[in-house]
This record gives sequence, C-alpha cells and structure tokens, in this order.
Amino acid sequence: MSYDLLLYNIGQLILPKSSEKPLKGKQMQELPIRKNAAIAVKDGKIAWIGNSEESDGVQAKKKVDVKNRVVSPGLVDPHTHLVFGGSRENELALKQAGVPYLEILASGGGILSTVESTRKATQEDLIEKASFHLERMISYGVTTIEAKSGYGLERDTELKQLRVTQRLREKYPIGIISTFLGPHAIPSSYRGKEDIFLTEMVDMLEEIKAEGLAEFADIFCETGVFTIEQSRDFLQKAKEKGLGIKIHADEIDSLGGTELAASLEAASADHLVAASDNGIKALSSSDTVAVLLPGTTFYLGKDTYAQARKMIDEGVAVALATDFNPGSCVTENLQLIMALAGLKLQMTAEEIWNAVTVNAAHAIGQGRVAGTVEVGKQADFVIWNLPNYQYLPYHFGVNHVSSVYCRGNKLWE
Ligand code: NIG
Ligand code: FE
Repeated sequence: MSYDLLLYNIGQLILPKSSEKPLKGKQMQELPIRKNAAIAVKDGKIAWIGNSEESDGVQAKKKVDVKNRVVSPGLVDPHTHLVFGGSRENELALKQAGVPYLEILASGGGILSTVESTRKATQEDLIEKASFHLERMISYGVTTIEAKSGYGLERDTELKQLRVTQRLREKYPIGIISTFLGPHAIPSSYRGKEDIFLTEMVDMLEEIKAEGLAEFADIFCETGVFTIEQSRDFLQKAKEKGLGIKIHADEIDSLGGTELAASLEAASADHLVAASDNGIKALSSSDTVAVLLPGTTFYLGKDTYAQARKMIDEGVAVALATDFNPGSCVTENLQLIMALAGLKLQMTAEEIWNAVTVNAAHAIGQGRVAGTVEVGKQADFVIWNLPNYQYLPYHFGVNHVSSVYCRGNKLWE
C-alpha cells in the first residue's frame, strides 16, 4: 500500500476518545496521548496510525518529519457569527462609559447596527469579508466551524447570508455547518409585534431546509429579545421541519433557556453564564452539549463566567467556541478561548482539548466526521509548535500552529 502522506516522529499525538455521543462530565478528563507516533493518509482520510519506528518501511508520496512536536485533530469552532457587514469599534467607548450590552441593543445599536450594514452589503462584499475572517480561523488551527445568519432579520438578507455561507463551503475545503438564526433580535419596526416577526421567520424554515441552506436553527432567548415561550415555539417548529436546533440561552439573565434546550433535545445550548442549578441538572441528563463562550464574557467586561467546573462535575458535556462576531466577541482565535477556559473556567488541559475537538464536533452534528484522529475519519489535523499538549492553554495570546491539514491537504503553515 502506498499512502499519499505520512507524518512521523510525532512527539505527542492527541487522540480524543471516539464516541457516538459527546463526552460527558468525568469522561472529559481523559485525553489519550500516543507518544512517538505516525499517521498515514490516503484519499483524504486517515488510513493508518502506528509507532514512528514502524513507519520506516511505509511507502508514501510525501513524508513529513514532525520533529517530536504535538499533533491534534483539526480544531472545531461550534459557534461563530462569521458572515456580517461592517464593524462596531464605536461600542468600545459606550462600554467604557458603562452602557450595558442589552441597552446598546435596545437603543438601536449593537446587533441592529450590524443588521443595517449587512443589509447594505452585496453578496460579494460579504464573501470577501467572511473569507478574510475564515482564513484567520484556519490559521489558528480550525478545520470545522459553524456559521450563523442573524444579521438580516428579514427574508432577503437572511437568505443572502445563508447563500454566502454556501459559497464559502464551495470555496474552502474545510467543514462549514450553517445555522439559521433569523430570530437574533427584534427589528425596530417590529417592536410590540414580535409574534408577527417570528411567524415570518418560521415561514422561512421550510425553504431553508429544502434548499439545504442550513443544518440548524437558533434563537436568542434573552430579556428584551425572545421569551422562553417564543423560543420553544420557534425551535419546535424548526425541529418539525427537520432542522437541528440550538439556542443562545441564559447568557445575561436566567430565563430557563438551558432547561428548554435539554427538554427539546437540542444539539447544544450556548452561553449559559446564568444557567440555574436546575438547568445544569437538566443538561446532565441529556445529550445536549453546553457550548461555553468565555471570550464573550471577557469581551463584555464581566467577572462572572459560566460554571464550567460545576457542569463537568455534574456530568454535562461541555464544548468551547469563539462566538466570533462584531459585537460581543471580536476574535477568530480559538486558542485564546482555550487559554481563557483554563484561567476563567477552571477547566483542565485535558477537558479543554476535548471541548474544542470531539465535543465541539458533536455540538454541530459532526461527531462522526470530525473532532478525533482515527482510521477512516477525515484527515484533518494540526501540527503544533508545542512541547506538550498542556502547554497550549498556558502560553496565551500567540498562535502555536505550525501547519494545518484538512482532508490530507496542507491548508496553512
Ligand atoms: O452570541 N448574544 C447574541 N448574539 C451574539 C452577539 C451578536 C452581536 O453582538 O453582534 C452572541 O454573543
Ligand atoms: Fe452567538
């Protein structure tokens, strides 16, 4: 057998445990590491994993000496708002003056200001801008992402955003999972007529599903945005149409979105900074992944972070994501989020790696294709300039990537 690619002299090969379901609670503490390993790739898939010494006789078109460094699965970022127009650097001064995030939104800024810019942008503008951000994500080791709409809040612009995501899927060889987040905010012209707005969003679900424009639907359940009842109704309808479901839940106020996600068997519940004890209990007896976004808490200047420790100790499956967006978390750098998870969420290095690989893949329905290094899976992996896997969340704010491979091809170095 001649392979397409052989990586040898891998000092530490990170092998998150493969599982049909996300790793829950204590299972997240286990992170199998293979020392002095080698990987061979054929037709974009991992075809062989063995000891480096055994690889001497292995035939391959290209051989890469990893020089004793660390190799991990390609990282998965399961929550991003990749496609949008404009930027909001003006909000820094408002934040410094103490204006809260929801107040900026209520006065027509925040998400609504990005909506205005996104409505004005052409599809080509949006592709160019999103490509720039996406390439930066890849440069930080990400080979699968989720990308949400939600800056249209009307049919045409929401469809424009989803079509841009489709175009990005054709343009880049990485995994891009699309989420329809039509109910991301209440357009100013619909204040007091939220149910009419939601009906318009529900009316789009069938077309979105039929055209394959999104795999998931999502809603921002929060004070001053959508209520628990509205969120339940929207998500149930999305589910009936065959879409997977997610929710922006209990980010600022504890409304019970965490419990709602578990009861609807959502793929993920995201944010959860204000999740109640009951919500955490409900998650632990479900397969819903808690997608935690410590970059957002940091960027909003808050001191209280999601209770990752309690969640993991009580048996919840936790994943981490950037929440990359132009308002509440402006970074494409998932490695920075890994460092914040160590410092602010008290997660261990083992839990952190599981949270950005196998569990992140499950949070976006990609558990079978991404998130682990195993024979038969997509050959998505990262060679890291790291002496060991514990080093990454320790040395923060820089890019530790040496090179990124996706489906066996080098995408970045
Ligand atoms: O996940 N919380 C709501 N939505 C985004 C922020 C979007 C924005 O501010 O533009 C989030 O944080
Ligand atoms: Fe978000």
